[in-house]
Order: sequence, then structure tokens, then C-alpha cells
Amino acid sequence: MSDKTSDLLGQLEGLNEPQLRRLLVEHLTRQKLGLYWESSAIERDRALNADVVLPRLVDVFPPPPPGESRAARDLADVVGRPSRLAGSSIREGAFAHRNLIIEGDNYDALRLLRATHRGKVRVIYIDPPYNTGNKDWVYNDRYVGANDRWRHSQWLEFLYRRLTLARDLLTPDGVILVSINDENRARLELLMDEVFPGRRLGSMTWRTRQGSNADQQCFLSVDHEHVLVYGNAGFSFNGFSKSYEMYGNPDNDPRGDWRTSDLTLGFSYKERPNLYYPLLDQKTGIAYPPNPDRVWVYASEARLKEGQTVQAKTMEAFIELGQILFPAEQRVETWPTLEALLAAIDAGDVPKSGKTPLLRRDLPNLEFWVGRPAGFGRPQFKRYKADLRNQTQPLSSWIVPSFEEGSYEADTSFVSSTNQEGARVVAEIFGDRAFNYAKPLSLIKNLLRQATRPTDTILDFFAGSGTTGQAVLELNAEDGGQRRFILCSSTEATKKEPDKNLCRDVCAERMRRVIAGYGGKPGYAVEQGGEFAYLQLDKVEAADAHHEVDLDQAFQLLAMKRLGVALPIPEGPIKRLGRLADCELLLCGEFNAATLQSLAAWPAQSGAARLAIYTLRPQTLAEKLAARGVEANCYSLMDAVLGGQGGNAA
Ligand SMILES: C[S@@+](CC[C@H](N)C(=O)[O-])C[C@H]1O[C@@H](n2cnc3c(N)ncnc32)[C@H](O)[C@@H]1O
Repeated sequence: MSDKTSDLLGQLEGLNEPQLRRLLVEHLTRQKLGLYWESSAIERDRALNADVVLPRLVDVFPPPPPGESRAARDLADVVGRPSRLAGSSIREGAFAHRNLIIEGDNYDALRLLRATHRGKVRVIYIDPPYNTGNKDWVYNDRYVGANDRWRHSQWLEFLYRRLTLARDLLTPDGVILVSINDENRARLELLMDEVFPGRRLGSMTWRTRQGSNADQQCFLSVDHEHVLVYGNAGFSFNGFSKSYEMYGNPDNDPRGDWRTSDLTLGFSYKERPNLYYPLLDQKTGIAYPPNPDRVWVYASEARLKEGQTVQAKTMEAFIELGQILFPAEQRVETWPTLEALLAAIDAGDVPKSGKTPLLRRDLPNLEFWVGRPAGFGRPQFKRYKADLRNQTQPLSSWIVPSFEEGSYEADTSFVSSTNQEGARVVAEIFGDRAFNYAKPLSLIKNLLRQATRPTDTILDFFAGSGTTGQAVLELNAEDGGQRRFILCSSTEATKKEPDKNLCRDVCAERMRRVIAGYGGKPGYAVEQGGEFAYLQLDKVEAADAHHEVDLDQAFQLLAMKRLGVALPIPEGPIKRLGRLADCELLLCGEFNAATLQSLAAWPAQSGAARLAIYTLRPQTLAEKLAARGVEANCYSLMDAVLGGQGGNAA
């Protein structure tokens, strides 16, 4: 028996009957189409439910003014400002931090966010480690190298666990955009299909470099990566505004600006016989031969079968509306006999579309043209600007490199610079190459420009150097938006480098410098989103949570969950979270005569009609307050803290 098998049998010993049944059902009903990788459902379940993740506020930026008191904060908090969290009517305090940087393994960060931000993130962008084998990611505290036998499975399982958590964070119209190199694209795309079934919207290619790759081991000079796009049902890109240069109103049409457009469709008369008919201008009596290779776009009423309806208006209806433009000046010919017509056909002296003759010997119903004035010009369609969808969806084929900007696709494509820009911006901010894998700012900014709306929350849980945070701030400054960012980054500390802290020293430090302004660039005021809270994560065994959960951490988790922000921790046993409509949101740890008295006086002092209080013994507190004539909704603090992180604790 292999080590692996005996290990598995050992794990199964520890399961009870319902757990064994569930596993068996999962095994027997496993999909047959899709991606398989080495993974353990038991281990997955255990990881998800192992413990509870709690946030600890360790820093804020900009730092609070010296000597500022909590009382002043409370006042500002009560005055508050309307929340910018989508769908929330909570009034946030002036000291609420809307942008979050979370240090730690993103598996833990995502478990926390699953409890606090479920269904609230509109756009996720990630640029995960690509599993290059060049020690680009850490698994179980060590780098995974090229020779690791389980490299691909470990990488897929690593991403699977994170993506399934991230999926729950998206709003019903949310989207996730994922960068990936060409080598791992296929694997990742199948994994994404598994996590987001039926949600694939497409993928784009972008040029990572200009010039060829010097790596001699490559068979192709690799210069591209992909961005995979998976979105929920309500998502759409913002689109590009159309150019209306061609529109005008030379005839003062009351329906507004218009332009002429083609009245034909790319089907032959054999493919669409119903749309192949002579078009008659009733006013002049002139008939226009149809194009045998490109039939008319609109059906004729005369040709509809009884009871048949058409999606668009009929040709006659458009003529009635004045939307078919017949040529004003043109040659008009009447052939008195069929022989005369055939002679004209043979001489090529018939109406044409470009070089294509519209009358030929092999075409049906030539007799129609005998003795009837035939127009040599072509009727056109009058297309009104008002009838257009005013946005064009971005092209999926590629992201136009900025060195090719100005090419025709740039009007309707994402544009990005190459990887060089990522390195250059980091060097401008830090004065050296503090981080080697930064994506170009223009790539993320232009993706977000298309994918986000001005009040969205944007998450990057492989934030690295924080390019996504900078892109969010720059975009807000450009369009006056109030997008907020959540960046999660690991420290990248290993046994070899225990003190390394990428999140603190690169990601957060980059955001500090960007907010303060760098290299002659202006910074960002708090009102422009120039602020963030820096959080670390602690883990507590669920069973020990009752005596180990720190009140400050519970407060922070509730602030994130109820208000979507991080808050400075108030002193004292009663901690005020904020105001929801006419209701004060409070957290009260242990209560005694003094705290009960404060709570009883709270509605009158705050002017709130109601109290909602999170506490360890909700029923007792509600009763004690009721005895003092105060009605309060009391909730279990532990339920609020423990709920929503893991699979079973959902
Ligand atoms: C390719 S980089 C992202 C670069 C980023 N887009 C930028 O522009 O700076 C991937 C990042 O994921 C981080 N990472 C890897 N595993 C992680 C984990 N489990 N939790 C959090 N971050 C992780 C790595 O430290 C690395 O910085």
C-alpha cells in the first residue's frame, strides 16, 4: 500500500457515516467533462472550516492628526456622510476607511471577505502566480519549482480554493478578469469553467513586449498573455462611444441627425428568395433591380405569406416613413422588348452595384423589366442617430498595444502598454525595482475603465505591488468616480526570508507614495479616495472563539460586514459602529450597571429612534434594557463573527 493510500485510509477513519456518504455521492456524481487534478475533498473541507479569520487594524493612511480625540471622531461619525457602498443606506463616519489593504495569505483574506463582502464586489482583477516553475509561488511555506511532480495539481487546487471563495463575493452583475500566460491559459480556463459554469464572456490577448524574446529555449518568441473574462448575468462592459462624425441633418429632418447606409444584406437571391424583388418608387414609377448577390435587408409586404410577421418594419413601411432614399438624379432606361433588354445585358449596359451587373440572362423574372423605367442609381437607407445603441462593445480579439494606438482597432479595443511600463512605474515610485512582476498600469486601468462603474468596489487578491489600487485612484481622478479598492497581498515571507513583507513594504508603501504624490504627480485627498486601512489577519479555532475572540477584532469584522469599511477602534465597553437610517449600530462586550445605564440613555443622546446591539448574551441584554424602558434589537456577536466564512458555517 502506498503512503498516499494509507494516509487517505487514515483520514477516512476519522469521518462519520453522513460524511462518508456525502463523499461517496460527490465521487459518484462527479462531472465527466472538464478538468481533473490531484486534490482531496477532505483536505479542502478541512481547510475551509479549520478556523475563523479575524481582521486586526494595524495602520491607517493618512495617519490621524496628532491629539485627535475619539470624542471628535464620534461627533464626525454621527454627522456622517451618505454611504458610497452600493445598495447601502448606512451613514459612514468621516473616519471610515473605504479602501482596504489586507496582509496575509489570500485564502484567509477571502474567507474573511466572504463573511463581510458577500455579493458586494463588482469587479475582481487578479494576476495570480503563473506556475512557471521559476519559483513564482509559495505552497505550504515553500516555493514550488519546475521539478515538483504535483506542480500543476497544486497550482490548480491553490487557485480553485481561492476562486470558489471569490465567486461568492461578486455582485449579480459582477465580473472577474484574470491575467494568465499562454502556457497555463488552457488549464486555467478549464478551471474557471468549473468554478464559473456558463459564465465565460471571452478572453483577450495583450502584447507583453515589443520586439522578440531573447530566450533561446522558446520555439516561438512569446510576446503575449491573456485576460480571461467571466461575468455574472447582469454584467456588461461600458462600451466605447460611437463616433457621430458621419451624421448630419442637411434636410432639417425633425427626427434629427442621420446618415445614409446600405440597404442590402450579404445573402444571394437563391439563399433569400423572399428578399429578392424589384423595389418600386411609387412617386416616380421607377423600379430598382435587386442585387442577386446581396438581397434587400427588409422584406416586402407584397411577398409576405398570410399571417407571416417580420421582426423589423417592412420595406413599404420604411418608404412611408421616408427612410428609403431613392436617387434624385440618375440615368433611367426603359427597354421596349425582351430582345432589347437581353442586348443591353450582353453589352453590360444595365444597372450595376459597383461592377456587378444587376440584370443577367440567368436571373428569374426578366420580363418584369420590359417596358418599365429602370433606375441606374441605388436606393439607400436613412439611419438616424437616435436609433443607434450609443455604445460599441470592446473587441475581444486583442488589447491594442499602446505603441499601435491610433490604429483603427484602438477606437473599440482595450489599450495597454507592455510589461516595461509596469517595471517603469514601480521604479518611478520607489527609485528602484522594488518588485519585478508589476503589470502595466495602463492595462489594469483600461480594463477597469471598461468594467467598472464609478461607485464600484474592486478587489485584487493577488495584489503584488498594488498596481490595481493605483489604477483605481487614477480612474477616479479622471472621471470623478468613488470606486474603492480592496488589495490582498502576501508577505512572501519564507523560512529563508522570515522578515520579508511585500504587502507592507511594497504594496502599502506604493499606495502611500501614490496618495502623497510622486515624481511631480499630484497626490489624492481623502475625499478623492486617498486613504486606506491596513489590516492583518488572526486565526482562532472556531471551538475556542467564545473565549478567544478579541472585541476589537469583532468590532472590525462587523464594521466591514455592516458598513463595508474599516473603522478606528473606539475605546470603552460600548463601541459604536455607525447609524443605519434611524438606528444606532453598537457593539457591547460584557455589560454591567454602568454600561446598561449608558445604553438606556443612548437613544435620547444620539437622537436615534432604535438601537441594534451585537453582544455575547443578546437575550439577557434585551430583557435588561426592556426593563429600563428601552427597546433594542440585540444580536449574537458570536453568530455574526462566526457566520459566513466557511462552507459549513455559511
Ligand atoms: C504576478 S504577482 C501580481 C502582480 C500585480 N498584478 C502587480 O501589478 O503588482 C502575483 C502576486 O501574488 C502574490 N501571492 C502569491 N500567493 C499568494 C497568496 N497565497 N496570498 C496572497 N498573495 C499571494 C505573490 O506574492 C505576488 O506578489
